[in-house]
Amino acid sequence: MAQRIQGMEDLLGDSMRSWQTMVERSRALFETYGFEMIETPALEQLGTFVHGIGESTDVVRKEMFRAFSGALLEDIFARGSEEGLKPRQRMALRPEGTAGVARAVVEHNLAPQGASPAKLWYAGAMFRGERPQKGRLRQFHQVGVEFFGAADPLADAQVIVMFMDVLKAFGFESTDVKLRINSMGDAACRPAYREQVRSFILEHKEKMCDDCLERAELNPLRAFDCKNPACRIVMEDAPRVDDHLCDECDTHYQQVKAYLDRAGIAYEEDSRLVRGLDYYTRTVFEVDVCGAEDVGAIGGGGRYDGLVELTGGKPTPGVGFALGFERIVLALESLGKSLSGDAATGVYVACADSELTAEAFSLSLELRRAGIRTELDSQGRSLKSQFKQADKLGACLCIIVGADEMKNNAVTVRDMESHEQELVQRDDIVAYLTERLA
Ligand code: HAM
Repeated sequence: MAQRIQGMEDLLGDSMRSWQTMVERSRALFETYGFEMIETPALEQLGTFVHGIGESTDVVRKEMFRAFSGALLEDIFARGSEEGLKPRQRMALRPEGTAGVARAVVEHNLAPQGASPAKLWYAGAMFRGERPQKGRLRQFHQVGVEFFGAADPLADAQVIVMFMDVLKAFGFESTDVKLRINSMGDAACRPAYREQVRSFILEHKEKMCDDCLERAELNPLRAFDCKNPACRIVMEDAPRVDDHLCDECDTHYQQVKAYLDRAGIAYEEDSRLVRGLDYYTRTVFEVDVCGAEDVGAIGGGGRYDGLVELTGGKPTPGVGFALGFERIVLALESLGKSLSGDAATGVYVACADSELTAEAFSLSLELRRAGIRTELDSQGRSLKSQFKQADKLGACLCIIVGADEMKNNAVTVRDMESHEQELVQRDDIVAYLTERLA
């Protein structure tokens, strides 16, 4: 039997309804902040991610699904190497949305310097080749926003407030979630800080795991994220980024916090919050759900002032975030909440006599065109099994088309819960149902 790939889920029923609710509530909120939706391709040139996200990140080194056309793959197998492929022949499925959106901003000149900023949001599937486990999938869904062209701390604060507002729209109370923030410095102060952390790791190398020793060379700040208990103890005493910020980064960070205070947003400062993508500069943030920490962060983001330049554009600041749909569903579940709502109910047109099928068909068209959700038997069921089917589909009313009713130019309306029946004139049925369903 054909099977889906492990770690890649079908969205159907409740999960599809939840995803649609999440997208619609996001749309409603993001539009009030003046953000426009963008859809970028799921497949991009490999370089878009490698340059944007960073060669030394786990996402790029270990987790990207790379893609080649069939002919190219045969060519690579035959030659035993990718050597000689043109950049446009190396592709990957997007592991996240920011790098692709930055590519689109550059390609379409969406945030020309000195002109208005580009405020974009997106919703879609992302792909990471991870070991599937709770809250960690190979294909997952994100809703994200990217704000290009604003360097002011006010932009960071607006994006963070928007992040917290959308969580509220999903049903989280402010006491359910924990926002952590940090500043990672910029090109002026981070290199020296990185070097200090690298030296610190090497000074304690006998206590650190092999991964952290590798990180020391590639990306030492990632050692703060190591899950190994021994490494965590050592990193408790590592140099803290807040002691190494340059004046500009420090001022920026203080202003972001002042705006968050003004907006009444509660946050925790976490100098060990480093995030897994290299493009971040200055502000970074992440949200966990209290009591659902095992799910992992439900969303995160930050400022990325160098990303557009890395993508080949003119220097353009930016800040944004993304939320993970599957983790949000798990976190809401742990709080006894859900995004799925009930499947929409409607009416069922039942046909008491097979000779009247065409009448039932016409009635169902009329009801649907009037905006009433309508189901109709298309398998020649008996009246009894049509009632059963109506129940199964959650219809609240059954409209029975029968010979006696037809003689009186009427239909019978049956309440599926009380089983009470009422005769309604055929010409009045749309108005009757519209009122009753409202
Ligand atoms: P990220 O922290 O890598 O950031 O991902 C954002 C969210 O996506 C995570 O907090 C998590 O909820 C979800 N997520 C990530 N990986 C998985 C996975 N394998 N399975 C299930 N859910 C997952 C970014 O992607 C950045 N692009 C966010 C951003 C936007 N920063 C600035 N702008």
